Amino acid sequence: MFSRSCGKKTSLGPTAQTLKKVQCKVADRLFDIVVLGAGSGGYAAALRGAQLGLNVALIESDKVGGTCLHRGCIPTKAMLHAAEVADEVRGAGHVGINAELLGIDMDQVNRFKQGVIDRLYKGLSGLVSARGVELINGHGRLLGPGVVEVNGQRVEGRNVLVATGSYARSIPGLSIEGRVMTSDQALTMDWVPQNAIVLGGGVIGLEFASLWRSFGANVTVVEGLPHLAPNEDEAISKALERTYRRRGIAFKIGAMVKDVTQSDDQATLRLDSGEALSGDVVLVAVGRGPNTAGLGYEEVGLRMDRGFVLTDDQLRTGIPGIWAAGDIVPGLQLAHRGFAQGIAVAERIAGINVPALIEANIPRVTYCDPEIASVGLTEAQAKAAHGTDAIETIEYNLAGNGRSQVLGTQGFVKLVRLAGGPVVGMHMIGARIGELVGSAQLIVNWEAYPEDVAELVHAHPTQSEAIGEAFMDLAGKPLHSHA
Ligand code: NAI
Repeated sequence: MFSRSCGKKTSLGPTAQTLKKVQCKVADRLFDIVVLGAGSGGYAAALRGAQLGLNVALIESDKVGGTCLHRGCIPTKAMLHAAEVADEVRGAGHVGINAELLGIDMDQVNRFKQGVIDRLYKGLSGLVSARGVELINGHGRLLGPGVVEVNGQRVEGRNVLVATGSYARSIPGLSIEGRVMTSDQALTMDWVPQNAIVLGGGVIGLEFASLWRSFGANVTVVEGLPHLAPNEDEAISKALERTYRRRGIAFKIGAMVKDVTQSDDQATLRLDSGEALSGDVVLVAVGRGPNTAGLGYEEVGLRMDRGFVLTDDQLRTGIPGIWAAGDIVPGLQLAHRGFAQGIAVAERIAGINVPALIEANIPRVTYCDPEIASVGLTEAQAKAAHGTDAIETIEYNLAGNGRSQVLGTQGFVKLVRLAGGPVVGMHMIGARIGELVGSAQLIVNWEAYPEDVAELVHAHPTQSEAIGEAFMDLAGKPLHSHA
Protein backbone atom coordinates (compact mmCIF):
# COMPACT_ATOMS: atom_id res chain seq x y z
CA MET A 1 0.00 0.00 0.00
CA PHE A 2 1.20 3.51 -0.70
CA SER A 3 2.12 5.83 2.13
CA ARG A 4 -0.43 8.51 2.83
CA SER A 5 0.67 12.03 2.11
CA CYS A 6 -0.69 15.17 3.68
CA GLY A 7 -4.34 15.88 4.35
CA LYS A 8 -5.86 12.43 4.85
CA LYS A 9 -6.62 10.09 7.70
CA THR A 10 -4.40 11.17 10.57
CA SER A 11 -4.81 10.66 14.27
CA LEU A 12 -5.44 14.38 14.78
CA GLY A 13 -8.77 15.60 16.13
CA PRO A 14 -11.33 17.09 13.71
CA THR A 15 -10.29 20.75 14.19
CA ALA A 16 -6.61 20.01 13.83
CA GLN A 17 -7.36 17.87 10.81
CA THR A 18 -9.22 20.71 9.10
CA LEU A 19 -6.33 23.03 9.87
CA LYS A 20 -3.83 20.58 8.48
CA LYS A 21 -5.91 20.14 5.33
CA VAL A 22 -6.07 23.89 4.73
CA GLN A 23 -2.33 24.24 5.25
CA CYS A 24 -1.69 21.36 2.91
CA LYS A 25 -1.98 22.72 -0.61
CA VAL A 26 -2.78 20.50 -3.55
CA ALA A 27 0.50 21.51 -5.17
CA ASP A 28 2.43 20.19 -2.18
CA ARG A 29 0.80 16.81 -2.28
CA LEU A 30 1.74 13.70 -4.10
CA PHE A 31 -1.47 11.82 -4.75
CA ASP A 32 -1.66 8.11 -5.29
CA ILE A 33 -4.04 8.72 -8.19
CA VAL A 34 -4.84 11.86 -10.12
CA VAL A 35 -8.03 11.28 -12.08
CA LEU A 36 -8.75 13.54 -15.03
CA GLY A 37 -12.52 13.58 -15.66
CA ALA A 38 -15.28 12.90 -13.13
CA GLY A 39 -17.68 10.97 -15.34
CA SER A 40 -18.64 7.34 -14.75
CA GLY A 41 -15.11 5.98 -15.26
CA GLY A 42 -13.31 8.74 -13.37
CA TYR A 43 -15.51 9.06 -10.32
CA ALA A 44 -15.77 5.28 -9.92
CA ALA A 45 -11.97 5.09 -9.84
CA ALA A 46 -11.82 7.95 -7.35
CA LEU A 47 -14.40 6.42 -5.00
CA ARG A 48 -12.89 2.94 -5.15
CA GLY A 49 -9.38 4.33 -4.76
CA ALA A 50 -10.37 6.29 -1.67
CA GLN A 51 -12.13 3.22 -0.30
CA LEU A 52 -8.84 1.35 -0.65
CA GLY A 53 -7.04 4.04 1.34
CA LEU A 54 -5.42 5.81 -1.58
CA ASN A 55 -5.07 9.60 -1.81
CA VAL A 56 -7.10 10.67 -4.79
CA ALA A 57 -7.40 13.95 -6.70
CA LEU A 58 -10.37 14.18 -9.05
CA ILE A 59 -10.22 16.92 -11.65
CA GLU A 60 -13.40 18.05 -13.39
CA SER A 61 -14.17 21.19 -15.38
CA ASP A 62 -17.93 20.71 -15.17
CA LYS A 63 -19.95 18.63 -12.71
CA VAL A 64 -19.19 15.30 -11.09
CA GLY A 65 -21.27 12.65 -12.86
CA GLY A 66 -20.33 13.57 -16.43
CA THR A 67 -22.37 12.79 -19.53
CA CYS A 68 -24.25 9.88 -17.98
CA LEU A 69 -25.74 11.86 -15.12
CA HIS A 70 -26.16 15.27 -16.71
CA ARG A 71 -26.57 14.78 -20.47
CA GLY A 72 -27.03 11.07 -21.14
CA CYS A 73 -28.34 7.98 -19.40
CA ILE A 74 -30.25 9.57 -16.54
CA PRO A 75 -32.04 12.46 -18.27
CA THR A 76 -33.01 10.29 -21.26
CA LYS A 77 -34.39 7.58 -19.01
CA ALA A 78 -36.41 10.18 -17.09
CA MET A 79 -37.88 11.38 -20.38
CA LEU A 80 -38.54 7.83 -21.54
CA HIS A 81 -40.38 7.18 -18.30
CA ALA A 82 -42.57 10.24 -18.98
CA ALA A 83 -43.12 8.84 -22.49
CA GLU A 84 -44.20 5.49 -21.05
CA VAL A 85 -46.69 7.25 -18.78
CA ALA A 86 -48.12 9.09 -21.80
CA ASP A 87 -48.61 5.78 -23.61
CA GLU A 88 -50.15 4.19 -20.52
CA VAL A 89 -52.66 7.04 -20.30
CA ARG A 90 -53.46 6.69 -24.01
CA GLY A 91 -54.11 2.98 -23.53
CA ALA A 92 -55.82 3.26 -20.16
CA GLY A 93 -59.33 2.69 -21.54
CA HIS A 94 -58.28 -0.74 -22.78
CA VAL A 95 -57.79 -1.92 -19.20
CA GLY A 96 -60.89 -0.16 -17.92
CA ILE A 97 -59.36 3.01 -16.56
CA ASN A 98 -61.03 6.19 -17.71
CA ALA A 99 -58.29 8.69 -18.45
CA GLU A 100 -57.49 11.10 -21.21
CA LEU A 101 -54.13 12.39 -22.35
CA LEU A 102 -54.61 16.15 -22.46
CA GLY A 103 -51.11 17.05 -23.56
CA ILE A 104 -47.43 16.97 -22.77
CA ASP A 105 -46.20 19.70 -20.44
CA MET A 106 -42.54 19.83 -21.41
CA ASP A 107 -41.68 22.33 -18.67
CA GLN A 108 -42.91 19.82 -16.11
CA VAL A 109 -41.22 16.91 -17.91
CA ASN A 110 -37.98 18.89 -17.70
CA ARG A 111 -38.52 19.73 -14.03
CA PHE A 112 -39.15 16.05 -13.30
CA LYS A 113 -35.99 15.10 -15.23
CA GLN A 114 -33.91 17.78 -13.50
CA GLY A 115 -35.21 16.70 -10.10
CA VAL A 116 -33.89 13.19 -10.68
CA ILE A 117 -30.52 14.54 -11.83
CA ASP A 118 -30.28 16.96 -8.90
CA ARG A 119 -30.96 14.29 -6.30
CA LEU A 120 -28.40 11.93 -7.79
CA TYR A 121 -25.86 14.75 -8.18
CA LYS A 122 -26.29 15.77 -4.56
CA GLY A 123 -25.81 12.18 -3.42
CA LEU A 124 -22.77 11.67 -5.60
CA SER A 125 -21.12 14.95 -4.57
CA GLY A 126 -21.69 14.02 -0.93
CA LEU A 127 -20.12 10.63 -1.50
CA VAL A 128 -17.03 12.11 -3.17
CA SER A 129 -16.55 14.50 -0.32
CA ALA A 130 -17.28 11.92 2.40
CA ARG A 131 -14.66 9.58 0.97
CA GLY A 132 -12.05 12.33 1.23
CA VAL A 133 -11.46 12.64 -2.52
CA GLU A 134 -9.82 15.98 -3.37
CA LEU A 135 -12.18 17.40 -6.01
CA ILE A 136 -10.49 20.06 -8.11
CA ASN A 137 -12.72 22.15 -10.33
CA GLY A 138 -10.97 23.25 -13.51
CA HIS A 139 -9.79 22.22 -16.96
CA GLY A 140 -6.98 19.72 -16.61
CA ARG A 141 -4.22 18.97 -19.10
CA LEU A 142 -1.77 16.11 -18.99
CA LEU A 143 1.78 17.43 -18.77
CA GLY A 144 3.65 14.17 -18.40
CA PRO A 145 3.69 10.93 -16.44
CA GLY A 146 2.29 11.77 -13.02
CA VAL A 147 1.56 15.42 -13.77
CA VAL A 148 -1.66 17.19 -14.67
CA GLU A 149 -1.94 20.96 -14.92
CA VAL A 150 -5.13 22.57 -13.74
CA ASN A 151 -5.87 26.23 -13.03
CA GLY A 152 -2.17 26.99 -13.61
CA GLN A 153 -1.20 24.57 -10.87
CA ARG A 154 0.61 21.24 -11.11
CA VAL A 155 -1.22 18.31 -9.58
CA GLU A 156 1.10 15.38 -9.14
CA GLY A 157 0.44 11.72 -8.56
CA ARG A 158 2.11 8.36 -8.70
CA ASN A 159 -0.58 7.42 -11.18
CA VAL A 160 -2.77 9.36 -13.55
CA LEU A 161 -6.06 8.03 -14.91
CA VAL A 162 -7.35 9.81 -17.99
CA ALA A 163 -11.13 9.42 -18.28
CA THR A 164 -12.27 12.46 -20.22
CA GLY A 165 -15.32 10.90 -21.89
CA SER A 166 -16.98 11.59 -25.19
CA TYR A 167 -18.95 14.16 -27.16
CA ALA A 168 -21.83 13.87 -29.62
CA ARG A 169 -20.37 13.64 -33.12
CA SER A 170 -21.77 15.06 -36.32
CA ILE A 171 -21.18 14.07 -39.92
CA PRO A 172 -18.58 15.91 -42.02
CA GLY A 173 -19.74 19.35 -43.08
CA LEU A 174 -22.83 19.37 -40.88
CA SER A 175 -22.76 21.92 -38.09
CA ILE A 176 -24.92 21.57 -35.03
CA GLU A 177 -27.01 24.72 -34.76
CA GLY A 178 -30.61 25.86 -34.74
CA ARG A 179 -32.91 23.03 -35.76
CA VAL A 180 -30.04 20.62 -36.32
CA MET A 181 -29.12 19.24 -32.94
CA THR A 182 -27.54 16.40 -31.01
CA SER A 183 -28.88 14.78 -27.87
CA ASP A 184 -27.26 17.62 -25.86
CA GLN A 185 -29.70 20.18 -27.26
CA ALA A 186 -32.62 17.76 -27.66
CA LEU A 187 -32.53 17.09 -23.92
CA THR A 188 -33.07 20.76 -23.13
CA MET A 189 -35.97 21.40 -25.52
CA ASP A 190 -39.07 22.87 -23.92
CA TRP A 191 -41.33 21.86 -26.82
CA VAL A 192 -42.29 18.68 -28.61
CA PRO A 193 -41.51 18.63 -32.33
CA GLN A 194 -44.42 17.95 -34.62
CA ASN A 195 -42.14 16.30 -37.17
CA ALA A 196 -38.74 14.98 -36.16
CA ILE A 197 -36.05 13.52 -38.41
CA VAL A 198 -33.59 11.32 -36.55
CA LEU A 199 -30.27 10.68 -38.26
CA GLY A 200 -28.87 7.40 -36.93
CA GLY A 201 -30.81 4.28 -35.93
CA GLY A 202 -28.45 3.33 -33.10
CA VAL A 203 -29.07 3.64 -29.38
CA ILE A 204 -29.60 7.40 -29.08
CA GLY A 205 -31.62 7.64 -32.29
CA LEU A 206 -33.93 4.82 -31.25
CA GLU A 207 -34.49 6.20 -27.76
CA PHE A 208 -35.36 9.71 -29.02
CA ALA A 209 -37.54 8.34 -31.82
CA SER A 210 -39.43 6.33 -29.22
CA LEU A 211 -39.94 9.13 -26.74
CA TRP A 212 -40.85 11.79 -29.30
CA ARG A 213 -43.38 9.39 -30.85
CA SER A 214 -44.90 8.79 -27.41
CA PHE A 215 -45.09 12.56 -26.95
CA GLY A 216 -47.09 12.75 -30.20
CA ALA A 217 -44.48 13.60 -32.85
CA ASN A 218 -44.26 12.16 -36.35
CA VAL A 219 -40.80 10.63 -36.48
CA THR A 220 -38.63 9.33 -39.32
CA VAL A 221 -35.36 7.55 -38.54
CA VAL A 222 -32.62 7.47 -41.19
CA GLU A 223 -30.04 4.70 -40.80
CA GLY A 224 -27.14 4.01 -43.16
CA LEU A 225 -26.86 0.30 -42.36
CA PRO A 226 -29.42 -2.34 -43.44
CA HIS A 227 -31.26 -2.41 -40.08
CA LEU A 228 -32.29 -0.29 -37.13
CA ALA A 229 -30.33 -1.29 -34.01
CA PRO A 230 -27.65 -2.66 -36.37
CA ASN A 231 -25.37 -3.80 -33.55
CA GLU A 232 -27.99 -6.17 -32.16
CA ASP A 233 -28.81 -9.72 -33.23
CA GLU A 234 -30.63 -9.47 -36.56
CA ALA A 235 -33.77 -11.12 -35.14
CA ILE A 236 -33.97 -8.30 -32.57
CA SER A 237 -33.44 -5.60 -35.20
CA LYS A 238 -36.24 -7.03 -37.35
CA ALA A 239 -38.63 -7.33 -34.39
CA LEU A 240 -37.91 -3.73 -33.43
CA GLU A 241 -38.58 -2.59 -36.99
CA ARG A 242 -41.95 -4.40 -36.94
CA THR A 243 -42.94 -2.73 -33.69
CA TYR A 244 -41.74 0.71 -34.77
CA ARG A 245 -43.80 0.35 -37.93
CA ARG A 246 -46.84 -0.52 -35.79
CA ARG A 247 -46.16 2.46 -33.57
CA GLY A 248 -46.15 4.71 -36.63
CA ILE A 249 -42.42 5.46 -36.47
CA ALA A 250 -41.19 5.72 -40.07
CA PHE A 251 -37.66 4.71 -41.00
CA LYS A 252 -35.33 4.56 -43.96
CA ILE A 253 -32.67 1.91 -43.75
CA GLY A 254 -29.60 1.56 -45.95
CA ALA A 255 -30.10 5.28 -46.53
CA MET A 256 -27.15 7.57 -47.13
CA VAL A 257 -27.39 11.24 -46.28
CA LYS A 258 -26.46 13.79 -48.92
CA ASP A 259 -26.93 16.99 -46.96
CA VAL A 260 -28.95 18.80 -44.34
CA THR A 261 -30.20 22.36 -44.70
CA GLN A 262 -32.42 24.53 -42.55
CA SER A 263 -34.61 27.61 -42.71
CA ASP A 264 -36.36 29.58 -39.98
CA ASP A 265 -39.16 27.08 -39.66
CA GLN A 266 -37.79 23.72 -40.76
CA ALA A 267 -34.78 21.53 -41.38
CA THR A 268 -34.47 19.28 -44.42
CA LEU A 269 -32.39 16.17 -44.80
CA ARG A 270 -31.72 14.98 -48.34
CA LEU A 271 -30.79 11.40 -49.07
CA ASP A 272 -28.48 10.21 -51.82
CA SER A 273 -31.59 8.76 -53.49
CA GLY A 274 -32.85 12.33 -53.95
CA GLU A 275 -35.63 11.93 -51.37
CA ALA A 276 -36.01 14.88 -48.99
CA LEU A 277 -37.31 14.65 -45.42
CA SER A 278 -38.35 17.79 -43.58
CA GLY A 279 -39.07 18.35 -39.93
CA ASP A 280 -38.99 20.86 -37.10
CA VAL A 281 -35.75 19.26 -35.97
CA VAL A 282 -33.05 16.97 -37.26
CA LEU A 283 -31.48 14.99 -34.44
CA VAL A 284 -27.95 13.89 -35.31
CA ALA A 285 -27.23 10.62 -33.47
CA VAL A 286 -24.36 9.13 -35.43
CA GLY A 287 -22.13 8.09 -32.56
CA ARG A 288 -19.94 9.74 -29.96
CA GLY A 289 -16.31 10.77 -30.40
CA PRO A 290 -13.58 10.56 -27.76
CA ASN A 291 -12.95 13.75 -25.83
CA THR A 292 -9.18 13.77 -26.10
CA ALA A 293 -8.19 16.78 -28.24
CA GLY A 294 -6.03 19.47 -26.68
CA LEU A 295 -5.50 17.59 -23.43
CA GLY A 296 -1.81 16.88 -23.91
CA TYR A 297 -2.26 13.17 -24.60
CA GLU A 298 -0.38 13.11 -27.93
CA GLU A 299 2.37 15.37 -26.61
CA VAL A 300 2.95 13.04 -23.68
CA GLY A 301 3.16 10.14 -26.12
CA LEU A 302 -0.02 8.19 -25.42
CA ARG A 303 -0.77 5.78 -28.26
CA MET A 304 -3.86 7.05 -30.05
CA ASP A 305 -6.12 5.82 -32.82
CA ARG A 306 -8.58 8.27 -34.37
CA GLY A 307 -8.68 10.20 -31.12
CA PHE A 308 -9.17 7.15 -28.87
CA VAL A 309 -6.50 6.26 -26.30
CA LEU A 310 -5.14 2.76 -26.80
CA THR A 311 -4.54 0.55 -23.77
CA ASP A 312 -3.73 -3.05 -22.98
CA ASP A 313 -6.42 -5.23 -21.43
CA GLN A 314 -5.46 -3.92 -18.00
CA LEU A 315 -6.14 -0.32 -19.17
CA ARG A 316 -2.45 0.67 -19.05
CA THR A 317 -1.55 3.15 -21.78
CA GLY A 318 2.03 1.97 -22.21
CA ILE A 319 3.44 5.02 -20.42
CA PRO A 320 4.25 3.94 -16.87
CA GLY A 321 1.71 5.25 -14.37
CA ILE A 322 -0.78 6.51 -16.96
CA TRP A 323 -4.05 4.61 -17.26
CA ALA A 324 -7.19 5.26 -19.32
CA ALA A 325 -10.86 4.34 -18.83
CA GLY A 326 -14.33 4.95 -20.22
CA ASP A 327 -15.47 6.31 -23.57
CA ILE A 328 -11.97 7.37 -24.66
CA VAL A 329 -10.88 3.70 -24.73
CA PRO A 330 -12.08 1.92 -27.92
CA GLY A 331 -15.08 -0.33 -27.29
CA LEU A 332 -18.62 -0.04 -25.97
CA GLN A 333 -19.34 3.51 -24.82
CA LEU A 334 -21.47 2.58 -21.84
CA ALA A 335 -21.52 4.10 -18.37
CA HIS A 336 -21.38 0.73 -16.64
CA ARG A 337 -18.32 -0.24 -18.66
CA GLY A 338 -16.75 3.01 -17.46
CA PHE A 339 -17.65 2.21 -13.83
CA ALA A 340 -16.14 -1.26 -14.13
CA GLN A 341 -12.99 0.03 -15.79
CA GLY A 342 -12.54 2.81 -13.23
CA ILE A 343 -12.93 0.39 -10.34
CA ALA A 344 -10.49 -2.04 -11.97
CA VAL A 345 -7.85 0.67 -12.44
CA ALA A 346 -8.12 1.80 -8.81
CA GLU A 347 -7.84 -1.79 -7.62
CA ARG A 348 -4.84 -2.51 -9.85
CA ILE A 349 -3.12 0.62 -8.55
CA ALA A 350 -3.76 -0.66 -5.02
CA GLY A 351 -2.08 -3.92 -5.97
CA ILE A 352 -5.16 -6.07 -6.42
CA ASN A 353 -5.13 -8.54 -9.27
CA VAL A 354 -8.21 -7.84 -11.41
CA PRO A 355 -8.99 -9.92 -14.51
CA ALA A 356 -9.54 -8.15 -17.82
CA LEU A 357 -13.14 -7.28 -18.74
CA ILE A 358 -14.70 -9.36 -21.47
CA GLU A 359 -16.09 -6.64 -23.68
CA ALA A 360 -18.75 -8.81 -25.38
CA ASN A 361 -20.14 -9.89 -22.01
CA ILE A 362 -20.94 -6.37 -20.87
CA PRO A 363 -24.74 -6.07 -20.76
CA ARG A 364 -26.43 -3.64 -23.14
CA VAL A 365 -29.88 -2.10 -22.87
CA THR A 366 -31.68 0.26 -25.23
CA TYR A 367 -34.59 1.88 -23.44
CA CYS A 368 -36.89 2.48 -26.39
CA ASP A 369 -40.36 0.93 -26.50
CA PRO A 370 -40.03 -2.02 -26.81
CA GLU A 371 -36.83 -2.29 -24.80
CA ILE A 372 -33.86 -4.24 -26.10
CA ALA A 373 -31.49 -6.05 -23.76
CA SER A 374 -28.56 -8.20 -24.76
CA VAL A 375 -25.32 -9.70 -23.55
CA GLY A 376 -22.71 -11.83 -25.26
CA LEU A 377 -22.47 -12.79 -28.89
CA THR A 378 -25.16 -12.39 -31.52
CA GLU A 379 -25.96 -15.45 -33.60
CA ALA A 380 -23.87 -14.06 -36.49
CA GLN A 381 -20.91 -13.27 -34.20
CA ALA A 382 -21.09 -16.71 -32.58
CA LYS A 383 -21.16 -18.39 -35.99
CA ALA A 384 -18.22 -16.31 -37.18
CA ALA A 385 -16.26 -17.14 -34.04
CA HIS A 386 -17.13 -20.82 -33.65
CA GLY A 387 -18.46 -22.02 -37.02
CA THR A 388 -22.06 -22.32 -38.22
CA ASP A 389 -22.48 -25.93 -37.13
CA ALA A 390 -21.19 -25.24 -33.64
CA ILE A 391 -24.08 -22.96 -32.71
CA GLU A 392 -27.62 -23.65 -31.54
CA THR A 393 -30.24 -20.96 -31.04
CA ILE A 394 -33.75 -20.80 -29.69
CA GLU A 395 -36.38 -18.08 -29.39
CA TYR A 396 -39.03 -18.09 -26.69
CA ASN A 397 -41.95 -15.86 -27.62
CA LEU A 398 -43.44 -13.60 -24.95
CA ALA A 399 -46.88 -14.62 -26.23
CA GLY A 400 -46.60 -17.55 -23.84
CA ASN A 401 -45.58 -15.41 -20.88
CA GLY A 402 -48.40 -14.38 -18.56
CA ARG A 403 -46.88 -11.15 -17.26
CA SER A 404 -46.02 -9.98 -20.77
CA GLN A 405 -49.61 -10.61 -21.80
CA VAL A 406 -50.83 -8.49 -18.88
CA LEU A 407 -48.47 -5.72 -19.98
CA GLY A 408 -49.64 -6.14 -23.56
CA THR A 409 -46.17 -6.55 -24.96
CA GLN A 410 -44.84 -8.66 -27.77
CA GLY A 411 -41.26 -9.84 -27.99
CA PHE A 412 -39.01 -12.78 -27.31
CA VAL A 413 -35.94 -14.12 -25.57
CA LYS A 414 -33.30 -15.55 -27.90
CA LEU A 415 -30.52 -17.79 -26.67
CA VAL A 416 -27.30 -18.56 -28.50
CA ARG A 417 -25.32 -21.52 -27.23
CA LEU A 418 -22.36 -23.58 -28.34
CA ALA A 419 -23.74 -26.98 -29.37
CA GLY A 420 -23.46 -29.18 -26.30
CA GLY A 421 -21.81 -26.29 -24.46
CA PRO A 422 -22.53 -23.08 -22.59
CA VAL A 423 -24.71 -20.14 -23.53
CA VAL A 424 -22.66 -17.42 -25.24
CA GLY A 425 -25.37 -14.87 -26.02
CA MET A 426 -28.80 -13.74 -24.82
CA HIS A 427 -30.95 -11.26 -26.74
CA MET A 428 -34.32 -9.97 -25.59
CA ILE A 429 -36.95 -7.52 -26.78
CA GLY A 430 -40.19 -6.44 -25.14
CA ALA A 431 -41.64 -3.91 -22.70
CA ARG A 432 -39.58 -3.66 -19.47
CA ILE A 433 -37.28 -6.42 -20.69
CA GLY A 434 -34.21 -4.34 -19.76
CA GLU A 435 -34.60 -5.39 -16.14
CA LEU A 436 -33.93 -9.00 -17.15
CA VAL A 437 -30.45 -8.20 -18.34
CA GLY A 438 -29.16 -8.88 -14.83
CA SER A 439 -30.09 -12.57 -15.10
CA ALA A 440 -28.82 -12.70 -18.66
CA GLN A 441 -25.39 -11.38 -17.78
CA LEU A 442 -25.00 -13.83 -14.90
CA ILE A 443 -25.89 -16.73 -17.16
CA VAL A 444 -23.53 -15.68 -19.96
CA ASN A 445 -20.66 -14.59 -17.73
CA TRP A 446 -20.84 -17.74 -15.65
CA GLU A 447 -20.85 -19.74 -18.89
CA ALA A 448 -23.95 -21.59 -17.74
CA TYR A 449 -25.22 -24.66 -19.56
CA PRO A 450 -28.92 -24.65 -20.52
CA GLU A 451 -29.42 -27.72 -18.35
CA ASP A 452 -28.18 -25.75 -15.30
CA VAL A 453 -30.53 -22.83 -15.85
CA ALA A 454 -33.48 -25.05 -16.81
CA GLU A 455 -33.42 -26.49 -13.31
CA LEU A 456 -33.78 -23.09 -11.64
CA VAL A 457 -37.29 -22.05 -10.60
CA HIS A 458 -38.41 -18.69 -12.00
CA ALA A 459 -41.19 -16.87 -10.15
CA HIS A 460 -44.63 -16.91 -11.70
CA PRO A 461 -45.95 -14.69 -13.15
CA THR A 462 -42.88 -12.65 -14.01
CA GLN A 463 -41.26 -11.82 -17.31
CA SER A 464 -38.18 -13.63 -16.01
CA GLU A 465 -40.10 -16.86 -16.54
CA ALA A 466 -39.50 -16.29 -20.25
CA ILE A 467 -35.81 -16.85 -19.57
CA GLY A 468 -36.59 -20.03 -17.64
CA GLU A 469 -38.87 -21.25 -20.43
CA ALA A 470 -36.29 -20.53 -23.10
CA PHE A 471 -33.74 -22.58 -21.20
CA MET A 472 -36.19 -25.41 -20.61
CA ASP A 473 -36.80 -25.42 -24.33
CA LEU A 474 -33.09 -25.49 -25.11
CA ALA A 475 -32.61 -28.27 -22.57
CA GLY A 476 -35.18 -30.29 -24.52
CA LYS A 477 -38.12 -29.98 -22.10
CA PRO A 478 -40.27 -27.02 -23.15
CA LEU A 479 -43.38 -26.37 -21.02
CA HIS A 480 -45.29 -23.44 -22.53
CA SER A 481 -44.10 -23.67 -26.12
CA HIS A 482 -44.63 -25.86 -29.13
CA ALA A 483 -41.05 -26.88 -29.81
P1 NAI B 1 -24.53 4.36 -32.23
O1 NAI B 1 -23.19 3.97 -32.72
O2 NAI B 1 -25.28 3.47 -31.32
O3 NAI B 1 -25.49 4.61 -33.48
C1 NAI B 1 -25.18 5.50 -34.52
C2 NAI B 1 -25.88 5.01 -35.77
O4 NAI B 1 -25.79 6.01 -36.76
C3 NAI B 1 -25.28 3.73 -36.32
O5 NAI B 1 -26.29 2.76 -36.47
C4 NAI B 1 -24.72 4.18 -37.67
O6 NAI B 1 -24.80 3.19 -38.65
C5 NAI B 1 -25.58 5.37 -38.00
N1 NAI B 1 -24.92 6.35 -38.88
C6 NAI B 1 -23.70 6.89 -38.73
N2 NAI B 1 -23.45 7.78 -39.73
C7 NAI B 1 -24.56 7.79 -40.51
C8 NAI B 1 -24.92 8.49 -41.70
N3 NAI B 1 -24.10 9.39 -42.25
N4 NAI B 1 -26.13 8.25 -42.24
C9 NAI B 1 -26.97 7.35 -41.66
N5 NAI B 1 -26.68 6.67 -40.55
C10 NAI B 1 -25.49 6.89 -39.98
O7 NAI B 1 -24.34 5.83 -31.62
P2 NAI B 1 -25.36 6.75 -30.84
O8 NAI B 1 -26.75 6.25 -30.97
O9 NAI B 1 -25.07 8.14 -31.28
O10 NAI B 1 -24.92 6.55 -29.35
C11 NAI B 1 -23.59 6.91 -28.96
C12 NAI B 1 -23.10 6.03 -27.85
O11 NAI B 1 -23.82 6.27 -26.68
C13 NAI B 1 -23.24 4.56 -28.19
O12 NAI B 1 -22.03 3.92 -27.94
C14 NAI B 1 -24.30 4.07 -27.28
O13 NAI B 1 -24.07 2.74 -26.87
C15 NAI B 1 -24.23 5.05 -26.12
N6 NAI B 1 -25.55 5.17 -25.54
C16 NAI B 1 -26.02 4.16 -24.76
C17 NAI B 1 -27.29 4.19 -24.26
C18 NAI B 1 -27.80 3.02 -23.49
O14 NAI B 1 -27.00 2.21 -23.03
N7 NAI B 1 -29.10 2.86 -23.35
C19 NAI B 1 -28.19 5.31 -24.50
C20 NAI B 1 -27.62 6.28 -25.39
C21 NAI B 1 -26.35 6.20 -25.86
